[in-house]
Amino acid sequence: MVEFALPKNSKISGGKTWPKPAGATETREFRVYRWNPDDGKNPSVDTYYVDTHDCGPMVLDGLIWIKNHVDPTLTFRRSCREGVCGSCAMNIDGQNTLACTKSMHDVGAGGAVKVNPLPHQPVVKDLVPDLTNFYAQYASIEPWLKTTTPTPQKEWRQSHEDREKLDGLYECILCACCSTSCPSYWWNSERFLGPAALLQATRWVTDSRDEATGERLDNLEDPFRLYRCHTIMNCAKACPKGLNPSEAIAELKFKMVERQI
Ligand code: SF4
Ligand code: SF4
Ligand code: FES
Repeated sequence: MVEFALPKNSKISGGKTWPKPAGATETREFRVYRWNPDDGKNPSVDTYYVDTHDCGPMVLDGLIWIKNHVDPTLTFRRSCREGVCGSCAMNIDGQNTLACTKSMHDVGAGGAVKVNPLPHQPVVKDLVPDLTNFYAQYASIEPWLKTTTPTPQKEWRQSHEDREKLDGLYECILCACCSTSCPSYWWNSERFLGPAALLQATRWVTDSRDEATGERLDNLEDPFRLYRCHTIMNCAKACPKGLNPSEAIAELKFKMVERQI
């Protein structure tokens, strides 16, 4: 389990307990982090009761039910509801994961479902983390095909074998569950790129069609950007898509050594 760490602007105090839904025969307790930048108050944890007979099974279903039936001010991100967009990443019962693919029946051992924003990021509001730095780091690895040979008339071709080398890399949905579970990233998030951006860097260095490998590796040659990974492996445990950023980072380090031989 990824240790829960409080979001950056967190001095939690108090919290409201909302009434149980009238007439509900079965409810599930949700304890949800709340913070409104406009009211001048400290963050709090509010308690809600979800009518489980009127609600889908996922934690995201519970949050949407609360927003629709109890408290319309509750703020969170979501889009696809099927583990594809990465926008509903949050910390549920101490683990970074996607709210839309995590069943509320699999967490909290029948007690409260505890929902917090992704750890160690500034909070925009409630469960919405500020991922500006995370996206800037992704942009910094220049995540697009770079070539010097003239563009072919039809398409850049790739053998089946070379395409398979991208398995385990291309599936990343940039949810940030891995980077925000990484202790090295918590302490050095301004300078260490973190597992998500580094997995994406590996994806482009591995692509047989890309012709900027040397430039990409030069861009990572820095005591912090790549080498702050200490193989703690939280990233691999946190990834809701079953990817292994730590392995991808090891591959990058290997390529760094290989080109010096
Ligand atoms: S393996 Fe590296 S990137 Fe992954 S959690 Fe550990 S230090 Fe962070
Ligand atoms: S590697 Fe996994 S946890 Fe990290 S951003 Fe990509 S999908 Fe999310
Ligand atoms: S809503 Fe898209 S991944 Fe959860």
